[in-house]
Amino acid sequence: MGPLMTSENIQKTIINKDYYNHFNALITALTTFGPFSTDKKSPPLQASQKMDTPTWVSYAAAWIATLALVLLSRRLRRRKLKLPPGPKPWPIIGNLNLIGPLPHRSIHDLSQEYGPIMHLKFGSCPVVVGSSVEMAKVILKTHDVTFASRPKTAAGKYTTYNYSDITWSPYGSYWRQARKMCLMELFSAKRLDSYEYIRKEEMNALLKGLYKSSETPVNLKDHLSTVSLNVISRMVLGKKYTDETENSIVSPEEFKKMLDELFLLSGVLNIGDSIPWIDFLDLQGYIKRMKALSKKFDRFLEHVLDEHNERRKGVKDYVAKDMVDVLLQLAEDPNLEVKLERHGVKAFTQDLIAGGTESSAVTVEWAISELLKKPEIFDKATEELDRVIGRERWVEEKDIVNLPFVDAIAKETMRLHPVAPMLVPRFSREDIQIAGYDIPKDTRVLVNVWTIGRDPTLWDSPNEFCPDRFIGKAIDVKGHDFELLPFGSGRRMCPGYSLGLKVIQSSLANLLHGFTWKLPPNMKKEDLNMEEIFGLSTPKKFPLVAVAEPRLPAHLYSL
Ligand code: HEM
Repeated sequence: MGPLMTSENIQKTIINKDYYNHFNALITALTTFGPFSTDKKSPPLQASQKMDTPTWVSYAAAWIATLALVLLSRRLRRRKLKLPPGPKPWPIIGNLNLIGPLPHRSIHDLSQEYGPIMHLKFGSCPVVVGSSVEMAKVILKTHDVTFASRPKTAAGKYTTYNYSDITWSPYGSYWRQARKMCLMELFSAKRLDSYEYIRKEEMNALLKGLYKSSETPVNLKDHLSTVSLNVISRMVLGKKYTDETENSIVSPEEFKKMLDELFLLSGVLNIGDSIPWIDFLDLQGYIKRMKALSKKFDRFLEHVLDEHNERRKGVKDYVAKDMVDVLLQLAEDPNLEVKLERHGVKAFTQDLIAGGTESSAVTVEWAISELLKKPEIFDKATEELDRVIGRERWVEEKDIVNLPFVDAIAKETMRLHPVAPMLVPRFSREDIQIAGYDIPKDTRVLVNVWTIGRDPTLWDSPNEFCPDRFIGKAIDVKGHDFELLPFGSGRRMCPGYSLGLKVIQSSLANLLHGFTWKLPPNMKKEDLNMEEIFGLSTPKKFPLVAVAEPRLPAHLYSL
């Protein structure tokens, strides 16, 4: 028998050999010695004892035997499993003592010691980490279906209507149906194309806004997340619900804070997820924050759904105008395999807004920060833009295929700063063996794409920002090339990747085309802080503040 023991096999082995012997020994011991002995030489029993003895004996024997069986089966299982290498866990906390405030970096350091497949314990929860192209392929491709579930975390429970969204729902028919909706309805090429005018209008608003504040230092991510929030709000909700002028239910600033909080809370290491019996203590205060946040989102989403239902009411053959309309129509579809309830529509809507807003803004902020550290790359990019686009117009989405260097900057940024450095945790659905090691059912599985992006066997000078490395190489980010997986791969891969890419590439291209970027006066490139914060996305710890000087003719900015 190989090192992997399925629960069934273990059971059989125990019953066949060890358990049988131990059980017999136990019964023999219990019935031979002590107060329950039925030895013929013992004094005769009283009438009442005669009645009680067989019950006592059998209960006690059964209890002890069951306990022995459980302990034995655990021991046997532990002894037989060949787990991947990893640091020895402490009781209760497991290896949590080794995980710092930037878990992907701590786990990266550990993988340098223990190898590309590693076993850790977060409290009592087993965690397996894959940190090489081979392991990413095995986890996300070869055994994708085994690892296609998600662990149940407090974030999924409290912030996504008890796992009713796409990201945190466990593998099963509900999640499969959600993915089908994404593929067929929400992110089909036709639907994405139909919203191109929205992306264009919002891009123009960004460029105009930056022009207005040109020559003064601006917080770039603020501008970028406004664009992506507006784009996604108009595509998903039909309008900018956060627009101050529209009597909005929540201000844009407040809404962006809610999204930042959602991303942070979805990615944090909540101790209660690893040590369930202290969950109720909420030692880090995260659960309190999750509950407060979900109340705020619910108020907003209720308002959105009410407005949409009002608009649809009584209109025959209503044509969906945005993604919420599509979801509400699907919720009424009697042929749906699994009913989509109102809370499911709210959870999906929240997923789309969150997924679509933060990630692209974070990526573009990192890109401009890296370029400010290496100004010579600006020159190469603007040379390409001037040559391909010219100075009399802005970049459009269809131009991107002709801008390989800008595309290379986007890829290089996602290599060094993947938004989700360990993707979103997966969860094994059954016992499996990979690379000669046993991965038991219910193990959390992480793929450290941050480590893969810095693997010196794959990349020359891996810590250096060098977009040229992608020129002439057929590496893309769409989940086929395992050395570069910013959107993941396989069944759980990001369903919004084509939208995300469009927003990243066109905002980056236009920011570089329309402006010369400088650091604020008195700041040197060496002073630019490149630290990060860990959450479900990994933004800069200190937001980039930079100065944008227009580089195109003035009339182009009156958009
Ligand atoms: C820069 C842009 C984006 C990046 C880098 C990104 C990255 C990711 C990653 C790494 C995952 C996890 C993949 C895995 O577990 O293997 C993911 C999942 C997901 N993303 Fe994105 N994403 C982006 C944009 C978007 C957009 C625009 C949307 C929707 C509007 C979106 C919605 C989702 C959803 C719903 C999931 C969960 C999928 C599932 O569990 O089945 N993302 N994304």
